[in-house]
Amino acid sequence: MRERHLYAEPYRVKMVERIKQKSFDERKKLISEAHYNIFNLRAEDVYIDLLTDSGTSAMSANQWSGLMIGDESYAGCANYFNLQQAVKDIIGYNFVVPTHQGRAAENILMSMFLKEGQTVPGNMHFDTTEGHIRMRRSSPLNLVIDEGLDTAFDHPFKGNINLGRLEELLKNSMGKIPMLIMTVTCNSNGGQPVSMDNIRSAYELTRKYKVPMFIDAARFAENCYFIKQRDPAYSGKSIRHIAREMFSYADGCTMSAKKDALVNIGGFLAFKDNEEWYEKAVQIQICYEGFRTYGGLAGRDLEAVARGLYEGTEEDYLEDRIGQVHYLGQKLIKMGVPLQIPLGGHGIFIDVTKFLPDMPRAELPGQALVKELYLEAGIRAIELGTCAFGYRCPETGNEVYPPQELLRLAIPRRVYSDRHMDIVAQALSAIAGRKDKIRGLKMVYQAEIMRHFTARFEPI
Ligand code: F0G
Repeated sequence: MRERHLYAEPYRVKMVERIKQKSFDERKKLISEAHYNIFNLRAEDVYIDLLTDSGTSAMSANQWSGLMIGDESYAGCANYFNLQQAVKDIIGYNFVVPTHQGRAAENILMSMFLKEGQTVPGNMHFDTTEGHIRMRRSSPLNLVIDEGLDTAFDHPFKGNINLGRLEELLKNSMGKIPMLIMTVTCNSNGGQPVSMDNIRSAYELTRKYKVPMFIDAARFAENCYFIKQRDPAYSGKSIRHIAREMFSYADGCTMSAKKDALVNIGGFLAFKDNEEWYEKAVQIQICYEGFRTYGGLAGRDLEAVARGLYEGTEEDYLEDRIGQVHYLGQKLIKMGVPLQIPLGGHGIFIDVTKFLPDMPRAELPGQALVKELYLEAGIRAIELGTCAFGYRCPETGNEVYPPQELLRLAIPRRVYSDRHMDIVAQALSAIAGRKDKIRGLKMVYQAEIMRHFTARFEPI
């Protein structure tokens, strides 16, 4: 990676959006009124919003101008063909089914392949993917390598799947595995990349056992960037070359264009060459999304996705984007904040059990740190720990804890400056200095599924 002080962002700013930092007293009142759940805050009350990198990108002048040539014809709009061409150029697939966002593509894919009582393996499924699998009374199975779950373990490709376990599964449960899903980068353990070798080997296994393989491509360009950085065999290859090779090792992909295609809404499902699958997908698309050439999106949105696919795979853009995430990460590492290392693609993941070692998990340390970041500087982060992934056992009423207690600082693309990142680091430094005074939280309301979106908390 280039030295950060030798270059600046490969863009200049044409339009700004005003943000304001509320006073400490206002923040204290607002977070209490939100029942200490940051999903209940109004965005205008947040100073630096690191809740997600999804749909929060700043579009380019090129994308905005594309909106003006949106062809809003019901059938056969010009922008659909532009998207089709972009998918062919960047991903190398022949068939594309536009959808309103990534989870809609997952819905179509699962409707096509999944039957009750099956198991869907993957390196690590995103939670909407898990939701689609569970809704069909089947089981998601995460087979990420053990190193991927140890935040302190240094490994260049912590998103890799355990190939031994995958083969064992494919060998022993013939007919019960409808597909394999490889998520690149692997969001759930810190935007960790998957190596080309691992993707190729996983694909070879699926060929051998005649199971289709799909890539969850939300952050595919960031994954390609890491392959270039961390695998010497690819250091001289372009991102687009790497992307074409990576996608050649799968039968299709789902895409949330809200990440690496740099748009605020949009997604698609794509197949390499299977026309029969494509026609089947279109049947479901028409029921849930819309006609095959728009799939739940306006023509203008299709155009922004098409243009975003090219921009998101530009090398200097990726260098700047990942460079900014790592700029923040390096600062935090120097301060001694325990993070998932090596640093991933779309955000910084703090290991909260190590950051607040004295707070029992029953006092929800991840959520407590989210609260402190808002109180300290108006920063909005998200807990990926007990609230998001734990649950209350219906039989015993006891809390079941997930393996990790992480806090994610997801960095939107092309939105904040390094000075905003400095503020985030300063806020965490201040919080680290008063760790022993931080109070935990208790959950006083929780929904049955996806409780973190609506839960209410009170300070202990
Ligand atoms: N796959 C991955 C790996 C994701 O991270 C997401 C969304 C989806 C699929 C679903 O896509 O939101 O367009 O329907 N991740 C967001 C996040 C919400 O904050 O990480 P979607």
